[in-house]
Amino acid sequence: MKKLQIAIDGPAGSGKSTVARLVAQALGYLYVDTGAMYRAVTLAALRRGVSLGDEEALAQLAAAVRIELKSMPDGGQAVFLDGEEVTQAIRSPEINGAVSQVAKVYGVRQVLTRRQQELGASGGVVMDGRDIGTVVLPQAEVKVFLTASLEERTRRRLKELRERGFALSESELREEVLRRDQEDTGRALAPLKPAPDAVVLDTSHLSPEEVTARIVALVRERAGSPS
Ligand code: DC
Repeated sequence: MKKLQIAIDGPAGSGKSTVARLVAQALGYLYVDTGAMYRAVTLAALRRGVSLGDEEALAQLAAAVRIELKSMPDGGQAVFLDGEEVTQAIRSPEINGAVSQVAKVYGVRQVLTRRQQELGASGGVVMDGRDIGTVVLPQAEVKVFLTASLEERTRRRLKELRERGFALSESELREEVLRRDQEDTGRALAPLKPAPDAVVLDTSHLSPEEVTARIVALVRERAGSPS
């Protein structure tokens, strides 16, 4: 079966990462979480005291740091920043609060978009993010845009953060999810939006396995497999 490029976009808490990982596992494809790359640059900026308002310094930092994504046996992805594992460190509330500011910088997007395109070039890849179907892999054979209600997305994020040991109230988190939605959707560069040819799926009442099954079926259809 032909190895396709699969683009999965959507807002925070829409289930992208879980579903993208499961789809990659089901098909034996490479999983690339592009949000992790923006998070790693944000972590580097906070650690080095780079001002989040200094676009030039942020762009230079994005070009200078070495970000590696390694596939784990469970289908997940470990993230390394200049050789140090930062898989957990990039998921903190501090990074959640700062990452949108880094993701709106032109020079940062330019560097990371190019790296993502290199990773996806030979196909057999499931990439999740905000602009994969519109900017990074506009030629992807399968484009999916996941959505879910704000309540459901807040609930999912809360569960994820509590499992990681962070104590946050539901109302705090709801505000943060909403603010990040607005920043990601309203920014001038590569805003969060479905590609014209994307399949839009509301996951509010679907399990990750159900969403995965739909996407895998779509891939088989597009790849021309008999099943
Ligand atoms: O998916 P995530 O929550 O890990 O993404 C973190 C941030 O990075 C999110 O606020 C938007 C940004 N992002 C982006 O602008 N483009 C991408 N392709 C992926 C993430």
